[in-house]
Amino acid sequence: MKKYLFVGNWKMNHTLEETRKFFEVFLEKIGEVDLSDRLIAIAPPFTSLYYASSLVKDSPIKLCAQNAHFADRGAFTGEISPLMLREIGVEYVIIGHSERRHIFGEKDSLIAKRVEGVYKFGLTPILCVGETLSEREVGQTLEVVERQIKRGLEHISELLPERLVIAYEPVWAIGTGVNATPEQAEEVHSYLRELLKELYGERAREIRILYGGSVTPENVNSLMSKPNIDGVLVGGASLDPQKFLSIVSIRVVKEV
Ligand code: 13P
Repeated sequence: MKKYLFVGNWKMNHTLEETRKFFEVFLEKIGEVDLSDRLIAIAPPFTSLYYASSLVKDSPIKLCAQNAHFADRGAFTGEISPLMLREIGVEYVIIGHSERRHIFGEKDSLIAKRVEGVYKFGLTPILCVGETLSEREVGQTLEVVERQIKRGLEHISELLPERLVIAYEPVWAIGTGVNATPEQAEEVHSYLRELLKELYGERAREIRILYGGSVTPENVNSLMSKPNIDGVLVGGASLDPQKFLSIVSIRVVKEV
């Protein structure tokens, strides 16, 4: 059975000392959570990633990077290679986050190369897609996410479904306190599911599609009750170990 996936994206937050404090609390309590149907990953900033790898070594917590280059090495100032990430035990890499797209100008073509590189070196890309508020207001949501998916995956022709994760993160919901309603999210997730089936066949059922954007301990249950929401990508609420613990420990009850 496909396990749910809960990912905490710390973005540019937490020094080494704050990382230590987070894991001190989080790892002490995570043993009480039933993890039989779920995976949990945390994406610290690069400076904390190696340190975090030593802290989570004997725990079920998986490590995620917030970006990666596509080559194994070379003259790419400011970039980190998938090989370097694999060496320290990273398993997942967020690619094409809306902050990379909108603040740093990453385009679908670059994102597609990053997805390919990460996949090729044995890591699992978490490809993020999502529309802006103005795109939603003019009814372009499905068109925008379809383009981002098709272009972002253009170099991945064959696929192990457990080795790809999609995150639907509407830009207007990120860091705003306004989450997509479970119905709005499910509409996009089911559209993405059909799209992935067109691309990869029936096994696309096994691809995890996460929702991200103002997820909190209060709204996570209703979001996770939707049939095509296989997990969540959490920003702000993942910085606090208690809040993230209450998110990852919910009992998931799917609507029938
Ligand atoms: P928030 O949960 O802070 O809205 O951030 C969502 C996000 O961008 C996760 O990648």
